[in-house]
Amino acid sequence: MTIEIDLTNDKALVTGSGAGIGREIAIWLARAGATVVVNDLIPERAESVTEEIIKEGGQAFAIPANCRDDVAVDELVKHSFEIMGGLSIAVNNIGMLPPNRSLKPFVKYRGDDWRDIIDQNLTLSALCGRAEADIMSKNGGGAIIFVSSGETTRPSPYNSAYAASKAAINHLVTSMAVELGPAGIRVLGVAPGTTLTETVAAAFTEERMEQLVESTPLRKMVDHDELARLIVFLASELARCITGQFIIADAGAFLSRTRPGNLEGLRINDT
Ligand SMILES: NC(=O)c1ccc[n+]([C@@H]2O[C@H](COP(=O)([O-])OP(=O)(O)OC[C@H]3O[C@@H](n4cnc5c(N)ncnc54)[C@H](O)[C@@H]3O)[C@@H](O)[C@H]2O)c1
Repeated sequence: MTIEIDLTNDKALVTGSGAGIGREIAIWLARAGATVVVNDLIPERAESVTEEIIKEGGQAFAIPANCRDDVAVDELVKHSFEIMGGLSIAVNNIGMLPPNRSLKPFVKYRGDDWRDIIDQNLTLSALCGRAEADIMSKNGGGAIIFVSSGETTRPSPYNSAYAASKAAINHLVTSMAVELGPAGIRVLGVAPGTTLTETVAAAFTEERMEQLVESTPLRKMVDHDELARLIVFLASELARCITGQFIIADAGAFLSRTRPGNLEGLRINDT
């Protein structure tokens, strides 16, 4: 006997899926049979991932939108529902990574820096979750999955705003789960460890990456497809009794007492 994950009746929206982890999530949901809306701020990215999925034999639509704008989010979710004929899986993947702009000594934060990161991570995700929950609650329920971060379980220096914004998402998962469970909506989070996306590769030195690998019990960084397959499982019927949790997917980094101590490999903005 084999156990199969079959999402052929599912309709999925993945935010920020034109690159990185989101791209892989959209591709793997489509491989499991779901129809997928590929959203990204950059239209060419959304279109290119959609073409990839269609070339593989999957079903996908590109809907570019800026998920920081609540009106655009409402339109994205409504349009996704209409174009796919439903919405049963939503993955809220967008987040500002620390190496991007936010890696900063705590004492150097100004109000604008701090608010920018909270808006891009917590507020954006909450607005997406609100629009998705509204439509799902009127149409048979579904699964809403947020991409959090391993930073919430093993904090590192110079990363306070990012870590706080992602920890708030972990709590949002629990609040939404208790409120929306009766409407048939499961709410989950995935907390990835360092994953080698282009953004991460550009921001970390080789030495820093080696230190990260050495600091995990499994001696590895997390691969995009490992996260994507976890999300396929969580979205599926196999996980139908799970809600209100965030799953740490970090090669065991959270168990390790030794964070890479040498900060030389990090690029820090201390202006
Ligand atoms: N890469 C890692 O090591 C890592 C570790 C832990 C958690 N995460 C989390 O995983 C998620 C994805 O990270 P990634 O590394 O794949 O990021 P990425 O920067 O590689 O890709 C993010 C995508 O989202 C799009 N995007 C950004 N803002 C948007 C907006 N306002 N509206 C629509 N699209 C927008 C970007 O254009 C880009 O294509 C983030 O939430 C991040 O915090 C990443």
